Amino acid sequence: MAKFVICPATAAACSDILQRIKELAKYKYMEEQVILTEKDLIVGFSMSHFNYDPWIGTWLYLEDFLVMSDYRGFGIGSQILKNISQVVMKCHCSSMPFLVAEWNEPSVNFYKRRGASDLYSKEGSRLFKIDKEYLLTLAAGEGRMLVRKMTASILS
Ligand code: ACO
Repeated sequence: MAKFVICPATAAACSDILQRIKELAKYKYMEEQVILTEKDLIVGFSMSHFNYDPWIGTWLYLEDFLVMSDYRGFGIGSQILKNISQVVMKCHCSSMPFLVAEWNEPSVNFYKRRGASDLYSKEGSRLFKIDKEYLLTLAAGEGRMLVRKMTASILS
């Protein structure tokens, strides 16, 4: 039997994925209908790395996170955050800190609505952290709802 490996799709594989999409369309005699480009396949990315602290254990630092401007507001960022949260939970991390530029109010609000706590501000950046309890909820895909509920109960 032939040996093969099935692996998750990566951005680096976009060119190959597009070729397979075209191959399938050709197989169906509809190749000319494929208008998707490589660019359409890479609409967002996040970059993070693991760290270790002897007091709190492993944590994941979120370095970068971007969804292309034309594709924002469709839930892609929330889905990426859900995937990151699932990795965090799987690897038993205690939290996920990250920096956001002071002027980046839309992203500050995006993270706050998902349970991020604003720790401090330094040299034009704000340090945020999402704790395990929120990461658990985000991993389950219910993060924003819980934050909404909590806000409502604080207000009432
Ligand atoms: N653009 C952005 N947000 C919009 C838009 C729009 N055109 N329209 C609506 N929104 C709202 C959505 O309704 C949603 O609101 P909610 O928080 O109440 O649910 C929220 O903004 C966006 O949610 P998603 O669609 O799930 O997320 P999106 O795919 O827009 O990605 C992200 C979010 C990654 C922050 C994206 O806006 C982005 O790339 N911003 C620019 C780069 C950036 O600031 N990155 C983060 C830097 S910090 C760091 O990297 C650690």
